[in-house]
Amino acid sequence: MIQQLSATKKSFHEALQQCTDFNSLKKLSLAYLGRKGIINNFLYQMVNKTDEEKKRVGKEINELKMQIEVEIKHSEQTILNQSEDTWIDVTFPGRKRKKGSVHLTTTALEEINHIFERLGFTRVRYREVEWEYFAFEALNMPKNHPARDDFETFFIEGDEDKTYGKIVLTPHTSSGQVREMMRVKKPPIKMINIAKCYRRNWDITHTPMFHQFEGLCIDKNINLTHLKGTIEYFVREFFDDRRKVRFRPFHFQFTEPSFELDISCDICDGSGMKKDALCRVCKSGWLELGGAGMVHPNVLKAGGIDPTIYTGWAFGFGVERNFMMKQGLKLDDVRILYNGDIRFLQQF
Ligand code: DAH
Repeated sequence: MIQQLSATKKSFHEALQQCTDFNSLKKLSLAYLGRKGIINNFLYQMVNKTDEEKKRVGKEINELKMQIEVEIKHSEQTILNQSEDTWIDVTFPGRKRKKGSVHLTTTALEEINHIFERLGFTRVRYREVEWEYFAFEALNMPKNHPARDDFETFFIEGDEDKTYGKIVLTPHTSSGQVREMMRVKKPPIKMINIAKCYRRNWDITHTPMFHQFEGLCIDKNINLTHLKGTIEYFVREFFDDRRKVRFRPFHFQFTEPSFELDISCDICDGSGMKKDALCRVCKSGWLELGGAGMVHPNVLKAGGIDPTIYTGWAFGFGVERNFMMKQGLKLDDVRILYNGDIRFLQQF
């Protein structure tokens, strides 16, 4: 049988030399590798052989089969290279490749970054996966404080640290405040922390993963007028000077006094109504952009800053929320940003 195999090998090579087109190559392939081809015929003959022979000759047959397969492929490629199919018409117009583009959130994020850069803020990025301590305790929300529930936090299962507690997916960029105080150590601090945040929320104005931008300004004699001026500058630059903003008293554990900031809704032009029904985005003519306030003395202390010498303010806004309210965009469901619908995304 071994002799027959080497004769087959030889005859295959001779036949292969004669193949100059795909047709003859296909015929040759069928004759050797087809169901009723020469190789299978050898395999059928093995049925009655001893185990030892099956092992020895079977190996030879398989090696020949593989060699034939490789050589046929190789000849196919040679024929293809020589054939007219690869003739290049240099006058033929090129095929236009599809171009990707930057995601809308990235564009918004860059724009926000530049606005604050112009005011002298330093861009930082703190962790997506954070200790409970920086997300809550350091922000004046001790263990078991009910205010923690507002943050709909995702907890990571696993180790718990004695000082820092559990591990969480950062529910807000405020967790970067104390980290920044610890990094800079001595005011002035002018931070803009833009990062991903996670909360268990899903509706027309919330996605479980979203972005926030957190401003923090600490120095001697810093007061609310600086906060108001900064936010008004941001609104004028990012939206339009026709848009109205209002500070509404609120409560946050980490600021005192605290506010929520609203902007007149662009979907209903601030009327609260859309086609004889309540505007489905704002329901009142105003949409909340985020929270702000004067940094609580306990938070300054947690960051190693003396509250009898320094004061500061902070704010935390949602990037997608703000983007949705861009003049004229009329985006009435924030989830469209992340459902991957190319028909929407490629318009920008
Ligand atoms: N971290 C708050 C949230 O996610 C928003 C916030 C409120 C940030 C007040 C602040 C602040 O810096 O001063 O709901």
